[in-house]
Amino acid sequence: MSPGRIEDHPVLGPLRERRSIAFTFDGQDVSGYEGEPIAAALLACGIRTLRYHEETGTPRGIYCNIGHCFECRVTVNGVGGVRACLTPVQAEMNVERGLPLPSPLKKGGEPL
Ligand code: FES
Repeated sequence: MSPGRIEDHPVLGPLRERRSIAFTFDGQDVSGYEGEPIAAALLACGIRTLRYHEETGTPRGIYCNIGHCFECRVTVNGVGGVRACLTPVQAEMNVERGLPLPSPLKKGGEPL
């Protein structure tokens, strides 16, 4: 499927076939396997940046990969704040880079 994906594990052997699911990320056609989290599918497609930090603009992606840090927030079918590491891919899902959260204060008290 993609060069970023392990198909034949050195210890586990060949991994079983799974159904491929097509979806989009920022308008780009990508795919994952049935039951696979969005973040894992995107990583296998070579996409590591899932959003940008609200204040610094630095790229953010998978950090904890267990749903605690919220660094992997993306927008799914128009709904923001979805954790890509926990949410399985679904057919024709429209995923976009995470929208910035409202930040009423910045350093120095300047509003956004
Ligand atoms: S990577 Fe930490 S919540 Fe998803």
